[in-house]
Amino acid sequence: METDSATWNDVDHWIAEHLLPDDAVLGEVLASTEQAGLPAINVSPPQGKLLHLLVRALGARRVLELGTLAGYSSIWIARALPAGGRLVTCEVDPHHAEVARRNFERAGVADRVTLHLGPAADTLERLVADGGEPYDLIFIDADKNNYPVYLDWALRLSRPGTVIVADNVVRQGKVLDAADDPVLTGARLFMERLGKEPRVAATAVQTVGSKGYDGFALAVVTS
Ligand code: SAH
Ligand code: DHB
Ligand code: MG
Repeated sequence: METDSATWNDVDHWIAEHLLPDDAVLGEVLASTEQAGLPAINVSPPQGKLLHLLVRALGARRVLELGTLAGYSSIWIARALPAGGRLVTCEVDPHHAEVARRNFERAGVADRVTLHLGPAADTLERLVADGGEPYDLIFIDADKNNYPVYLDWALRLSRPGTVIVADNVVRQGKVLDAADDPVLTGARLFMERLGKEPRVAATAVQTVGSKGYDGFALAVVTS
């Protein structure tokens, strides 16, 4: 049987209806994304809840996110943190950061979230130099061309057991294209490095839903 994106969208709504209670704040965050003219490239509601459940299942206390946008995925993550837990999120666009900060206030998670404004690679370099505790979960969702670089930094900020999740590694299957698009070559090189990296066990899962056809990679740091 063939399905199309309208069906994927309907099923995402059906999933949300059953498993994701209506949430006024998250609704306002999505509305603010549109009102502020930001692109609607946040994770879908079921994906946001997946991140939320990963944080809870891992008992993660320290989470790092690359790519904040309006803070939609950040809020799903922040709400799953235990008391004293912390989300560090990186965003390069000042307007996105401003919208996100407002949304963190709105969601009552501003005290648990640190937003670093600037290129994520610079922030990561600083975080490594600061020599803080490793992160329990790292969500990579910023500029796709830099995913290979982000993998290197993520490993330096990890410990055995750290989980790394990367969004958008399938791009409607276009990652297989030879096309010289840095978005695609970034995702492809990221997957190649992940596969050759002896310090992780990794997989990737294709997804369909309200965001179309894409996929995420998941890795556990083993040593
Ligand atoms: N995680 C968000 C979506 C992120 S969209 C959510 O699901 O709600 C990707 C974001 O990465 C955009 O806001 C974009 O401005 C930001 N970005 C792009 N290049 C970046 C860079 N070099 N460093 C940090 N953020 C970057
Ligand atoms: C797009 C989707 C994303 O999840 C993202 O992080 C960046 C871009 C997109 O569909 O263009
Ligand atoms: Mg994404």
